Amino acid sequence: MIEELLPSGVTSSEAFDDAAPAPLFPAEAALMEGRRERRRLQFATARACARRALAGLGVRPVALLPGPGGAPQWPSGVVGSITHCEGYRGAVAAPAGVVAALGIDAEPAGPLPPGVLGLITSPGERAHLAALAAADASVPWERVLFSAKEAAYKAWYPAAGIWLGFRDASLVLSPAGTFTAVLRPPVPSPVDPVYEGRWLAGRGLVLTAVARGVPALVPAARAVSFGSGRA
Ligand SMILES: CC(C)(COP(=O)(O)OP(=O)(O)OC[C@H]1O[C@@H](n2cnc3c(N)ncnc32)[C@H](O)[C@@H]1OP(=O)(O)O)[C@@H](O)C(=O)NCCC(=O)NCCS
Repeated sequence: MIEELLPSGVTSSEAFDDAAPAPLFPAEAALMEGRRERRRLQFATARACARRALAGLGVRPVALLPGPGGAPQWPSGVVGSITHCEGYRGAVAAPAGVVAALGIDAEPAGPLPPGVLGLITSPGERAHLAALAAADASVPWERVLFSAKEAAYKAWYPAAGIWLGFRDASLVLSPAGTFTAVLRPPVPSPVDPVYEGRWLAGRGLVLTAVARGVPALVPAARAVSFGSGRA
């Protein structure tokens, strides 16, 4: 499913159960020591997905350990993202020279638990969700919005290193399967705060993905003459 949301150049792998967890590297196994069975299986299956996504780039298996803020530390030259929820594990990866930022998220389809919507949305976003639901009640719009915020955060955090609350992001969802997230970090950051993404609902799941390409490189001389010629 997740591959439907990704641009070319991004590799992916997903699993809908824990039938084939990855053998863990010692540092990964140490991280899971004493954790509940459910978390260990989720972690190991997501690592199996990540190793397959990396293999698609020609990168050998490595331990994928959390760095600052919990973001996985990908091998040098690679960007990627991991998600897991009940009934789904997935990972995506891409060369850092092609893709600057990646974020994916999976959620069970269906309404958010009572009381959550008010905590994670602005009044404007709630009006937007109501309009979307009035046009098509078959889509779990609240979940799509929640998931899209998490996908945007996972793309944002490794580059910016700044934690964001759910009210620090404004989302606009399109029934066509796209969304725009505008992030408002509490402190200034040079990282572009606008992320474009895609969403999908099916098989009882909501999946979202954000991918930002590396800006095209323009030769310096051409950039100078282009700039001065139009000034
Ligand atoms: C980090 C967070 C986004 C993870 O989302 P989740 O739905 O709880 O869990 P998921 O299974 O989808 O994702 C977990 C994976 O995300 C990755 N992850 C964790 N922290 C991350 C971070 N800071 N940046 C990028 N990826 C991160 C990890 O790979 C983790 O899996 P692992 O521990 O097995 O390696 C969420 O727990 C969180 O802290 N959210 C608050 C911040 C936020 O989302 N703000 C929204 C406004 S922009």
